[in-house]
Amino acid sequence: MRYLLLLILSVCGVVNAEHHQEQKPVLSVSSPDQHIVLSFTDNDNVAQYQVSFNGKAVIEPSKLGFLFKTAVPMYRDFTISEVSRNQSDTSWEQPWGEQRVIRDQHNELVVKYTHITDSNNMFFVRARVFNDGIGFRYEVPGQGERAITRELTEFNFADSHLATAYWIPGQGRERYEYLYRTTPLQQVDKAHTPFTVAYQDGTHVAVHEAALVDYAGMSLQKQQLGVFTADLSPRADGIKVLKNDSFTTPWRTITIGDEAVDLINSFIALNLNEPSTLTDTSWINPGKYIGIWWGMHIDKYTWGSGDKHGATTQRTMDYMDFASQHGFDGVLVEGWNTGWDGNWIANSELFSFTQSYPDFDIDAVAKHSVKTGVKLIGHHETSGGITNYEAQMEDGFALYNKIGVEQIKTGYVAFGQNLKRRDAQGIMRYEFTDSQDVVNHFIHNVTTAAKYKLSINTHESVKDTGLRRTYPNWISRESARGQEYNSGWAPPNPPEHMPLLAFTRMLAGPMDFTPGIFNFDYERVHGGGPEWGDKPYTRPLSTLAQQLAQYVVVYSPIQMAADLPENYLAKSRPFQFIKDVPTDWETSIALQGEVGKFVVFARQEKAHRQYSGDDWYLGALTNEDERQITVPLTFLDKNSTYEAQIYRDGDKVDWQTNPYDMIIETKTVTAADTLKIRLAAAGGVAIRFKISHNQAN
Ligand code: NOJ
Ligand code: CA
Repeated sequence: MRYLLLLILSVCGVVNAEHHQEQKPVLSVSSPDQHIVLSFTDNDNVAQYQVSFNGKAVIEPSKLGFLFKTAVPMYRDFTISEVSRNQSDTSWEQPWGEQRVIRDQHNELVVKYTHITDSNNMFFVRARVFNDGIGFRYEVPGQGERAITRELTEFNFADSHLATAYWIPGQGRERYEYLYRTTPLQQVDKAHTPFTVAYQDGTHVAVHEAALVDYAGMSLQKQQLGVFTADLSPRADGIKVLKNDSFTTPWRTITIGDEAVDLINSFIALNLNEPSTLTDTSWINPGKYIGIWWGMHIDKYTWGSGDKHGATTQRTMDYMDFASQHGFDGVLVEGWNTGWDGNWIANSELFSFTQSYPDFDIDAVAKHSVKTGVKLIGHHETSGGITNYEAQMEDGFALYNKIGVEQIKTGYVAFGQNLKRRDAQGIMRYEFTDSQDVVNHFIHNVTTAAKYKLSINTHESVKDTGLRRTYPNWISRESARGQEYNSGWAPPNPPEHMPLLAFTRMLAGPMDFTPGIFNFDYERVHGGGPEWGDKPYTRPLSTLAQQLAQYVVVYSPIQMAADLPENYLAKSRPFQFIKDVPTDWETSIALQGEVGKFVVFARQEKAHRQYSGDDWYLGALTNEDERQITVPLTFLDKNSTYEAQIYRDGDKVDWQTNPYDMIIETKTVTAADTLKIRLAAAGGVAIRFKISHNQAN
C-alpha cells in the first residue's frame, strides 16, 4: 500500500524520486517449483517476512523477533544481510510410518539481522521452502541466561476476511481435547496449532511448528483482524522460555496448497526434524492391540480396586488368549497399579509405577504373555504428576522391560496448567502440557524409555511436531478428543469431528484414536444434561462402517480394537477388516476431501511380517451429510487384478437409529476401474484391495 502511494505521488510529481527512501533489501527464496516465495525485509529497521503462493500474498509482512526480560529487544533497529543459500533434494526412510520413503526437496536461505548500533547483537533466520510450504527457525548466538518474555513471530494472513479457520482453543482447560470450531478467520482469538485455514479460491494453509524441543509450545494469539502472534505457553514463573547461551527455536511452518488434501499429503514437519537418534530401531514394532480399557470408560469395570476391578490376572490372561486367537500383538492393561482408588485425577502423588494391585499378578501375566506370544502393553497414568513420575520412571521401565513389555501408554490427565512439578527448592509448580519444562519432560520420558527398548504412546501429550523422526520410539500419542469421549462421560464427538481431525490434528502426526466400537447400545451411565444438547447420546456418532474406515483414515502405527472382545465375536464379519488392516504403510495418499466434510484415503501396505506389500486399503468417511464418492482406482498397480473386499453403509443405515446396517461385498477390480460409493450420513467405507493376480508374474 505504502509503495503504491509513493508510486502514485511520484508519478504525479508530488514526491521527487531523489527523495525516496534508500531501497531496502528484500531477500527471497522460492520453492523448487517456484510457486511459493518467502521473503525477508528490514523496512523501518524492523525484521519481517512475507509469503506468496502462485503470485498472490498468503502472509503479508509479518514481524520476527523476541522480547526478553532484561536483554535488548530483538526485532526493532535491526538490518538484514544474506548469509548463505543452499539447495537440497534427498530422500530418507522411516522405520515405520504412513509412508516409507520421504523426499526432502527444498531451497534454503539463511539471513542475518544485526542491530544497527551494536554489531555483536544479531540473530539468524534459517528458512526452507518446499513445494508444499515453508519453515523457518531462529538461531540466536549469545552467552549467558536469557529469559524470553515474548516471541514476536507474526502470521498476518492476506485477505483474512475471505478465510475460514478450523481450530481448537490454545492453552485451555482441556489441553488439546476440544471440539473443533469452524469460524471466519477473523473470529479466532487464541488457537492451538496445527491451525488450518481455507480460502474461497481453494487455497489452504496450515500453521504449525516442527521439532519442539527445550522450548514452549506455540499457540496463535489474535492481535488485530487476521493478524496473529506466536503465544508461547508460559512456564510456572511466567517467563515463556529460559535459555542459556546460543539457542535455536522450533521451526515455524506454513503448509500451503491449492486444495485441502495438499495439507495432508505434505511432509514438511518431518523433513524439518533431526534424523533419528536411534541406530537400531528393530525393537520398535507397529501393530494392533486390544485392552482392558473401554470397559472402564463405560463403567463396566473400574480402574481402582474392588468388585469391578478391571485389571485382574484372569481377565488379562483371557484377553491375551483372545488376542492370540485373532492376531493382535498386545493387550493394554490399565488400572493394574496402585493409586487409582479415590479421586485419581487429583491424587497424582499416590500413583506407584511398580506396585500392582493384589489381584493383578504381574509375573503370572508375564508367563502367559510368553505362552501366547501376546505382549502386555504397559500403562503409566501420571495424572500430571511430573515429579512423582520422574522419581519412579526408571524403576517402572526396568520392571516392564524385565517382563517383556515393548510399549507403554502414558497419561497426563490434569486440566490446563495443572501438571505438577516440584522445583529445585521443593516448591510445587503448576505447568501447562506444552510449557518448556513439560516439553522437556516428554523428551526425557521417551529417551529414557529407549534405554529400556520401550516405545511410548503418550495420552494428554504435548502436540506432535514431527519428533517421531528423531525419537522413533515415540510411537503414537493422543492430543485430541479421541474415542473415549464417546463412552458416556462427556458429550460425544459429533459426526464432523472425524473429517475435521483429518485436516487439523492429523497434520501433526499419528493419533491413538482407538477406533472400532462395535456395540453402540451400552447402558447410559453418565450421559445427559445440558451440555449434551437435545441429543443425549452416549455412543459413537457414526455408522459401524465408519468405525472400520477410521482404521485407514486416522493414521497410527499402533491401532487399538477398542471394544470388548465379546462385541467383536458378535460381529465376526466386520471384525475381519480389523484383523486384516495393517498399521504400517509403504505409501499413503489423501485422495479427496474437504475440511470437516469428508476425506478419502488410499494406503498401500508395507512389506513386513505377514504383509506382502501388494495390498491396498481405502478408507473414506463423511460428516452428517450423506454423499456419493467417485474414486478412480489409478493408485493400484496397473498390471494387477484385485479382489476389493468392501465394507460399506447399508441401505437402511441411520447413524441415529440404526447404525449397524452394513453391506459386505467383494468385486474384482483393476486400476482402470472407478468405484462409486454412497457414504451414509456419519458413515464411511473401508476396502481391502487384495491382490489376486499379477500379470507381470
Ligand atoms: C485418558 C486417556 O486418554 C484414556 O485412554 C485413559 O484410559 C485414561 N486417561 C486413564 O488413564
Ligand atoms: Ca485423553
